[in-house]
Amino acid sequence: MPRKLVHLIAAARPNFMKVAPLHHALAASDWCDARIVHTGQHYDANMSDAFFRDLRMPEPAHHLEVGSGTHAEQTGRTMIAYETVAMRERPDAIVVVGDVNATAACAMVGAKLSIPVAHLEAGLRSRDRSMPEEINRLVTDAISDLLWTPSPDADENLRAEGVPAEKIERIGNIMIDSFEMLRARIEAAATRERFGLEAKRYAVVTLHRPSNVDDRATLAELVERLLAISPRLPLFFAVHPRTRRRLEEFGLWAALAGAPGITLTEPLGYIEFMNLVCGAAAAITDSGGVQEETTYLGIPCLTLRENTERPVTVTEGSNRLLKPQELEAAVEEILAGRWPRGRRPERWDGGTAGRAVGSLKRYLLEKSI
Ligand code: UD1
Ligand code: UDP
Repeated sequence: MPRKLVHLIAAARPNFMKVAPLHHALAASDWCDARIVHTGQHYDANMSDAFFRDLRMPEPAHHLEVGSGTHAEQTGRTMIAYETVAMRERPDAIVVVGDVNATAACAMVGAKLSIPVAHLEAGLRSRDRSMPEEINRLVTDAISDLLWTPSPDADENLRAEGVPAEKIERIGNIMIDSFEMLRARIEAAATRERFGLEAKRYAVVTLHRPSNVDDRATLAELVERLLAISPRLPLFFAVHPRTRRRLEEFGLWAALAGAPGITLTEPLGYIEFMNLVCGAAAAITDSGGVQEETTYLGIPCLTLRENTERPVTVTEGSNRLLKPQELEAAVEEILAGRWPRGRRPERWDGGTAGRAVGSLKRYLLEKSI
């Protein structure tokens, strides 16, 4: 039987640690060739190349060089560029991950070419349609053929939207596969030493949601709260390019950079960043991935958002949603050792890529007979 061809779509930082375990598992199979298609949504070396290196992925088979732009520009350019590749290569399946613009764009291309689409991280819902990611999740799930979910709430969301049960498979959280694959190197990395941080005596900060960083007053309030807690708990803030641009534009950069308890850096590679997360007293974030990683590690996570599409990180894990003015009290709880450690959700166990490959193999080899 001829080998199947699968395209794995990767676009932005949070996609790379989701695609890598799947790439490695498919590359080891005897029935399938996997090709990575990088749309180019993230392009700085520290938002892209560093992850290919850390996660031991080969160069992408195709690089679409879509770059930055408005939502329609980015989505449209991705569709046009990817359609050419998909029409030429006619893959047997397309795997899209997460909820970025490329996820919805490439799912639409696949669906209209009648190429089966698998969505890894399906079913998550914040129920906040002002988030661009929520639109991407709804569109992608509505047109995908295989819906691989990380948690029971995701299964439930899909069923409530009328998705047939046979399309849904709970495979767990693939970010944990990447973490476990690199755990030894993450634990051995000397990132804390490099930045002069003492284990459990600092918090890692990441912020990049448009709702937090694109509005001057909101970002100014956040900066003020971070400055207020930094004498109690030193902060290590790896600044996303969107956020850096806004901090500079709103004249907020100097105050943060000058604060003695705050270290500002460029985004870090995966191994270095996870080394800092592992040794942190807490994370302060609006990142989807960081909410999950801290839940897995039992590290307090203070999420500066009004909702989350990852509710198990709150109900089972160590995550809590907070308003900026609640940060100081939460930090005191953490310092007093009163933050619940939580537990790991089911199937967040390093075996997710294997379950995804099993599902894909059944779909492509058995259903097509
Ligand atoms: C995107 C995703 C978001 C995800 C985030 C992860 C969408 C709608 N948003 O948001 O879901 O959580 O990635 O980090 O898909 N920039 C650079 N260098 C880069 C990439 C971006 O300087 O390599 C700057 C550009 O000024 C760009 C801005 O960051 O305009 C925003 O980038 P974009 O990819 O549009 O959105 P993110 O905020 O990164
Ligand atoms: N990350 C990293 N370096 C950083 C910040 C984040 O390696 O400086 C990793 C981390 O594993 C995190 C992931 O990138 O879970 C997701 O990134 P991001 O917050 O950009 O996206 P989201 O998960 O919110 O979509």
